[in-house]
Amino acid sequence: MAIISKDLSLAKSLLENSQLVAIPTETVYGLAGNALDSLAIASIFETKKRPSFDPLIVHVASIDKAESYCSEFPEPLGRLAEAFWPGPLTLLLPKTAQIPDLVTSGLDRVAIRVPNHPQTLALLYSLDFPLAAPSANPFGYISPTTPEHVNAQLGMYIPMILDGGPCEVGLESTIVGMEGDQLIIYRLGGLAIDAIEAVVGKVMIRDHSSSNPQAPGLLESHYAPKTPFVLGDLEVLIPAYLERGDSFAVLSLCDKWDLISNSRQLILSKKSDLKEAAASLFSHMRLLDEQKVAVILAELMPEIGLGKAINDRLKRASAKS
Ligand code: TXA
Ligand code: MG
Repeated sequence: MAIISKDLSLAKSLLENSQLVAIPTETVYGLAGNALDSLAIASIFETKKRPSFDPLIVHVASIDKAESYCSEFPEPLGRLAEAFWPGPLTLLLPKTAQIPDLVTSGLDRVAIRVPNHPQTLALLYSLDFPLAAPSANPFGYISPTTPEHVNAQLGMYIPMILDGGPCEVGLESTIVGMEGDQLIIYRLGGLAIDAIEAVVGKVMIRDHSSSNPQAPGLLESHYAPKTPFVLGDLEVLIPAYLERGDSFAVLSLCDKWDLISNSRQLILSKKSDLKEAAASLFSHMRLLDEQKVAVILAELMPEIGLGKAINDRLKRASAKS
């Protein structure tokens, strides 16, 4: 298993030697390697069993650093960077030749962000290269929000997990780019659309499907537990499954049911707070996945604030079922 440690100098020396280290961010844990080193990049793809057509996000310490890896920084994206970095926002920017094609899967734009986590920022400041990091989970499974999540699935393949505690946001970053003058959200995430629109005005949300070559990672069935995951009205689903006699577990925003044991129902936020719900979403999905039931039943959130991004993940989790 990997060493779980707060030792920044160990993380630094491993990364300087083309090795991989799982790093904490405010969104989810990342599987990091030197973004300028093709050997490290290749082992990220191999460790995650990720198809090479799915590009990686490059993490940097500051806006200045981000500027050094792109040939142009369109003004509206600059305003977003000023407003939200460090934070759960990834920008698609035209890349310079310094970024290996392996990182962007041959696309002209590189995805860049400044993560908001004190240890990872300190690590980035101490390195003279940026870190490529996809979420630290096997391809297609739920993203990790604690060091233990990472260790359970990738611990046998990597030397170290930098321990930064549980992730505060709990949803991957929101990905934004431009096509002509149009701002486009390619992935809903930890930064809510309203916050983005308050800075740059109306944005377009790109409807993702498995055939979208612009953001190949946004396959419909993604972020998925192993247990079949069914979304719907719990007031209807629960009585139906009770009657059928199938074993099931329940993931709800705030309601509990008397007939179901506590270990088989988890709520995302007692006070229906969507920020709190986002922060517990992936760890709750994992806990229910471990219950070894026939099916997990879940409900959609209100479509406000982070609710939209949570619903996106819930729908992807259910796409396989
Ligand atoms: O919050 C996050 O973004 C986390 C933490 C670790 O920073 N990272 C993360 O990475 O979620 P990953 O690899 O699991 O998801 C990155 C997404 C993928 O869907 C990928 O297709 C898209 O970003 N992406 C990366 N580079 C891209 C590019 N050049 N053009 C279009 N989409 C890109
Ligand atoms: Mg991922």
